[in-house]
Amino acid sequence: MDHFTYRNRILHCDDVPVPALAEKYGTPLYVYSKKTLVHHLDQLKSAFKALDPLICYSIKTNGNVHIARLMVEGGAGCDVTSGGELFRALKAGCPADKIVFAGAGKTDAEIRMAFEHGVFLFNVESEGELSAIADIAKAMNRVANVALRVNPDLPPKTHAKTDTSVKGVKFGLDIDTVLEFAQKVVKNPHVKVVGLHMHLGSPILSTDPYRQGIDKGLVLIDKLRQQGHKITVWNMGGGFGIHYKKNEALPATAFADVIVPGVQKSGCKLVLEPGRFIVGNAGLLVSRVIYTKDSGGKHFVIQDAAMNDLIRPTLYDSFHRIWPVAPAKDIAAPPEDYQVENPGTMKCDIVGPVCESGDFLAKDRYLPPVARGDLLATFSAGAYGMAMASNYNGRPRAAEVLVDGSEHHLIRRRETFDDLVRPELEC
Ligand code: LLP
Repeated sequence: MDHFTYRNRILHCDDVPVPALAEKYGTPLYVYSKKTLVHHLDQLKSAFKALDPLICYSIKTNGNVHIARLMVEGGAGCDVTSGGELFRALKAGCPADKIVFAGAGKTDAEIRMAFEHGVFLFNVESEGELSAIADIAKAMNRVANVALRVNPDLPPKTHAKTDTSVKGVKFGLDIDTVLEFAQKVVKNPHVKVVGLHMHLGSPILSTDPYRQGIDKGLVLIDKLRQQGHKITVWNMGGGFGIHYKKNEALPATAFADVIVPGVQKSGCKLVLEPGRFIVGNAGLLVSRVIYTKDSGGKHFVIQDAAMNDLIRPTLYDSFHRIWPVAPAKDIAAPPEDYQVENPGTMKCDIVGPVCESGDFLAKDRYLPPVARGDLLATFSAGAYGMAMASNYNGRPRAAEVLVDGSEHHLIRRRETFDDLVRPELEC
């Protein structure tokens, strides 16, 4: 459920008409709904309440401090993958003892920073990383709490670039050898193996991978305990899918039905690292049509959001619903199914100004006729949209606005041309 609705043919975020936001803040513009963000966090809390889990908002998904702060205010911790993300989480007011630190390539400086702040848990992905953590812990006179991140070797379940639990990807410890590795660290005085971590991939639209992960995890936890490790934490990562095309995503309760009984059996504290589920459908990207043209048998809608603003279609061939913000009178708004030819639509490629043929938001998409100056909404853009934005082609990054009922607040200003060169001129 989200709070983006058409009222009298005009898209609203909560009670605010989107054209008013575009007028005030310019385009391209990311618009987030506070109610939707909070609602999604609440859905997870309620689905998993039997276990009172630590929900660590995966800050890589959308690192805006104001959004992370909302999550923290809602009781969440944070999942971070770098020193920069740790910095963001702390800026958002996240208590360090609710922060889990993931990532296959933590540097010594980042590990030290994590110790200095006292993060809850390191998710460890290699033998080398564990020994670096142990060395630094020794030098700093600390003991590290770690969860072993295991790659459970499951069948493919999502886009190859974001599937993290198939054999041969860089993530996690190999499930076939993790126990040999764990045996070697039982007596390490600077490292306590207290948990198991699995992040299966993202986005996942079925409960099967979680069922398979739970089955393998239960066996592993048993064996780790037999080795003498006191396993008290089970981190199942994130990955819960969302609606990109229509209503294809599962509710949080479907994942909970599979995860809760398994984790209960293990007697562990559950940690989750959701990102997309919380923020994906809570954000949209608003852009303005600059030109339209026909060329090579195609109709192009050239608008002012580009691959530097939202790279997901280019990188993963991902589908985002796109519709005019204020469709003309004779157009039904919006359709049930964006993948078919709806009445009054025409096939077009929706592209941006960047100098690459790969710069598109949608290809062969049925859209009502639009003209220069019209506004478009690209839906489900809250996750991995702004977080993956860049300055490519000398494009300042977009502004972000948070809507709450009838109020709206700029939560990141539009970058300026000066911002583009500032770090170079400071040298
Ligand atoms: N935990 C770990 C260890 C992760 O690697 C990720 C995502 C998450 C949690 C959060 O997953 P979520 O709940 O958001 O599915 N840029 C891609 C997605 C990359 C996912 C990276 N890891 C995209 O735009 O689809």
